[in-house]
Amino acid sequence: MDLGLKPQPTFYMFKCEQSSPPGIPKPCCVTKDSKGLFNYMASVLMEKGIMGPVQAIKTSCLGRCEVGPLMLVEPGHYMYVQLSKEKIDKIVEEHIIGGNPIKEYLIADELWSDPLNLSKS
Ligand code: FES
Repeated sequence: MDLGLKPQPTFYMFKCEQSSPPGIPKPCCVTKDSKGLFNYMASVLMEKGIMGPVQAIKTSCLGRCEVGPLMLVEPGHYMYVQLSKEKIDKIVEEHIIGGNPIKEYLIADELWSDPLNLSKS
């Protein structure tokens, strides 16, 4: 059976969709003000006709709650913080379609230093 070539996704957009239970003071990525950002992102990708090559994925906590709502774009470990609909529009246009990550929307270096080396050699 010939299944043909199926290309890998070009980008993954991991959007944190974790919310804290009512009464818990911990910051979280989904509040009443940020609710709906994942669906908005998915609708933008569909409108642009790039859903598929770009995979939109809901995740739980990505570990940087204090600067949420946030989203990780792979490849490249690009962590976008304090998201809004306007920022999502620009990220899709300039990073995903244009190939130029938007530095001013990325997490601060002190919150995103180099990964630990887990290699045993
Ligand atoms: S709840 Fe979103 S990063 Fe922690």
